[in-house]
Amino acid sequence: MTQVKATVGEVLRKRLEDKTATIAVVGLGYVGLPLVRSVHDSGFRVIGYDADDTKIDQLRRGESYIRHIGNELASELASSDRFEPTSDAGRLADADAILLCLPTPLGPHREPDLSYVLDCTKLIARTLRAGQLVVLESTTYPGTTREEMQPILEASGLVCGTDFFLAYSPEREDPGRDIDRATIPRIVGGIDAASTDLAAILYRHLVDEVLTVSSTEVAEAAKLLENIYRAVNIALVNELKILLSAMDIDVWEVIEAASTKPYGFQAFYPGPGLGGHCIPIDPFYLAWKAKAMGHTTKFIELAGEINAHMPEHVISQVMIALNDDGKPLRGSRMLVIGIAYKPDIDDIRESPAAEIIELLQGGGASVSYHDPHVPAFPKMRDHDIDLSSVPLTAATVEASDCVLIVTDHSAVDYDLIGKHAGLVVDTRNAMARVKNPSARIVKA
Ligand SMILES: NC(=O)c1ccc[n+]([C@@H]2O[C@H](COP(=O)([O-])OP(=O)(O)OC[C@H]3O[C@@H](n4cnc5c(N)ncnc54)[C@H](O)[C@@H]3O)[C@@H](O)[C@H]2O)c1
Repeated sequence: MTQVKATVGEVLRKRLEDKTATIAVVGLGYVGLPLVRSVHDSGFRVIGYDADDTKIDQLRRGESYIRHIGNELASELASSDRFEPTSDAGRLADADAILLCLPTPLGPHREPDLSYVLDCTKLIARTLRAGQLVVLESTTYPGTTREEMQPILEASGLVCGTDFFLAYSPEREDPGRDIDRATIPRIVGGIDAASTDLAAILYRHLVDEVLTVSSTEVAEAAKLLENIYRAVNIALVNELKILLSAMDIDVWEVIEAASTKPYGFQAFYPGPGLGGHCIPIDPFYLAWKAKAMGHTTKFIELAGEINAHMPEHVISQVMIALNDDGKPLRGSRMLVIGIAYKPDIDDIRESPAAEIIELLQGGGASVSYHDPHVPAFPKMRDHDIDLSSVPLTAATVEASDCVLIVTDHSAVDYDLIGKHAGLVVDTRNAMARVKNPSARIVKA
């Protein structure tokens, strides 16, 4: 009897099902490193590839370079015989599945910068072999996987859907949020049915629920909808904050009251401006694609405009508050609390703190900052701020004309601020937790 040879897809399916497959995670940053943990914990052999040698060396030594992830994971990985950190792209040839967690920033004209994803796809194409699955996890506009990645991979001579497989599955990482990642459902959309199916088999080992959708484009658009929804709703409460405060109404109390409605309302909170790698950036991926198709995205543009204005609004609130104390901004000593873009993490990408500090310095204020997670202000693409975190003591607080809360880390001693500050401008309602502060609190 002649034996029918299994197709490469069937072989891969078997390897994914019984976890004998090797999975490569490409880009070991805020998204990639936690993904390595999930894949490793589920029993697969993992190759962790990053172009940054320093990160690879740290992983080999069992050290984490992402503070909230901690050294425990790094040392567990370093001592595992199922984890191989590497900066050699050639090692990707060994992987059965390659998951891309690469940056997707904006270029100088707010256009998508796909260079990280596409350069790496070219590298993968060089060693692409039959039976490999490639999955993009980076946030991007609908069409990226099919229109940009597939032709590069197929230039190898291999055909998607029969020789190799290609899918998109957006990452829903929320750094700093203490949540079991396995409980966050995954969306998976493949270029074809075989790709969707194989990617879904892999992700079912990592999370409790996998939703397969009809195409890569649906999966790409779903991720953008999630982030645009946040950007628009944050803009809405930011706009309402300014209006309500002019009416002497506390927006935080209003949101708390509205939140008691058990349906039809989800609370979003105002702040000093958007930050991070996602919400200030991703909506513009869709806006760019829309423009290319002759469409406009008014909600996205308006939300961007309102959110981008918030740092200036904060400065005007600081100036008014100082003025009430008979002080000009010029020469005032400002102590900024929290420069990370959100609480309890060390990530300052796109953080509004950078613009706020530059505006304060530009207005002649003398600025220092305290952030328990960011010891020195890192160099940013558009900002170069030469400051290091000062200790939060009664003396540093008392020496300030104004304490400005930009990010409400939970490790900050707000009681101490409430007791020793003269004036606190609070963009996060952080001082609400302090009973009977002697400082004057201005919500901004
Ligand atoms: N950070 C988040 O909270 C979050 C959440 C969901 C989705 N995302 C999306 O995930 C993607 C990755 O974001 P991130 O925050 O992890 O970025 P990151 O900057 O933290 O990590 C990216 C990593 O890729 C590495 N890298 C860059 N070019 C490379 C190359 N050519 N080859 C190999 N490695 C390379 C970098 O050294 C870095 O370690 C983005 O598209 C982002 O929008 C991020």
